[in-house]
Amino acid sequence: MLLRSLIDRSRLTILGLNSGTSADGLDLAVVTIPRDSREPVTFVHGTQRAYPKAIRELILRSADSKFTSHEEVVRLDSILGQFYGTTAAACLKSLAKKRIQVDAIASHGQTVRHLPKAVRLAGYSAHGTLQIGSPALIAAITGRVTVGDVRQADVALGNEGAPITVAAVARLFGDQKEPRLIVNVGGMANYFYLPAGMQSDNVRAADCGPGNVLSDLLCQKLYGRQYDRDGHHARKGKCSRRLISLVTGMSFFRSDTVSTGREQFGTDLANRLIREGKRLKLSKDDLLASAVEITAYGICRNAAGLALKDRKIRKLYLTGGGAYNSFLKERIAAGLSSIEVGTVAELGMDPSLTEACSYAVMGAACLWSQAMPTRFGSGKQRKLPILGAIVQPPV
Ligand SMILES: Nc1ncnc2c1ncn2[C@@H]1O[C@H](COP(=O)(O)OP(=O)(O)O)[C@@H](O)[C@H]1O
Ligand SMILES: [Mg+2]
Repeated sequence: MLLRSLIDRSRLTILGLNSGTSADGLDLAVVTIPRDSREPVTFVHGTQRAYPKAIRELILRSADSKFTSHEEVVRLDSILGQFYGTTAAACLKSLAKKRIQVDAIASHGQTVRHLPKAVRLAGYSAHGTLQIGSPALIAAITGRVTVGDVRQADVALGNEGAPITVAAVARLFGDQKEPRLIVNVGGMANYFYLPAGMQSDNVRAADCGPGNVLSDLLCQKLYGRQYDRDGHHARKGKCSRRLISLVTGMSFFRSDTVSTGREQFGTDLANRLIREGKRLKLSKDDLLASAVEITAYGICRNAAGLALKDRKIRKLYLTGGGAYNSFLKERIAAGLSSIEVGTVAELGMDPSLTEACSYAVMGAACLWSQAMPTRFGSGKQRKLPILGAIVQPPV
């Protein structure tokens, strides 16, 4: 199916592919998006596929090391393109048996560098973000038009390339009567504030700081397990004020950047926390308790600030893998007096698939040449980006 057969459709069924900074795997969500934005998006199908260990190790080497070679990145771009392509193709095949036809694919790719702060280099101001997992390979393997590189049009406008899913999240969760505060806890944590009635001037979105990443890295290093299920270990520990202030004193919490990544909150920091923990004679569980408290701190300071501006905010809806961590949920609730903490499941969405759904919505917007605003309030844009680069399958 080529691009020309899609652009005039009044609705598109898109497979959104998400692979976040946790590097845990690929989330797949199929949704039908009506061109008329007043009509609701409908969820068709969703599934997840964990990365095989060997791929995961390559991703972590590329994303977490300052010494990754170009060869490694080029090869991983190919490996991930094939993994996404074959995983998507299997999904399309099982849907075809149920007579569900998917029109196109939208893939975020795996972030290997996120450098939101500009530096002067060779007389130019340079900043950017890089996602790999070749969209051309996905298109070739699946035979579907594929939208990739969803962050680059935002970077080209001088922005950080994050957050970019605001308009899609607004389409999925915006409400006429109730303000919506959605907090995504993936590798990093980020919030979306959607005022009631969706007056776009008042929409806000930004990263809050680390999400699950520190807790995951500590759990892997200290217990050899991928993550601390339900905060089992963190719950038994005592958080250390010293460790918390070591992280909350970092530049992200004092700067006006709206996004962050594993460059700041990754392996180097986790190793530093472990060293510091040894010096302070903390237990492994104290380290995990501190990591959860750091995540809760970043979320609560943003939520509390928003609640002061909009007193109608009564609830914070968690999404992403962190929504399943009951201990994190408790610690966020403990830090917020006037706001209840729930999950997007209460709004009819599977928390592990929100981002994949957002990319599907963005993919449709790209194919229809619809702009997706990414900045609001004082940073409002004069020109709006059309997010995504379109790749066509071979004929
Ligand atoms: N039951 C659970 N208890 C605690 N943490 C969980 C649970 N389920 C998922 N997670 C966390 O969610 C993470 C994956 O979140 P995800 O939204 O996929 O992040 P990303 O978008 O960065 O890939 C896991 O690494 C883990 O930290
Ligand atoms: Mg994930």
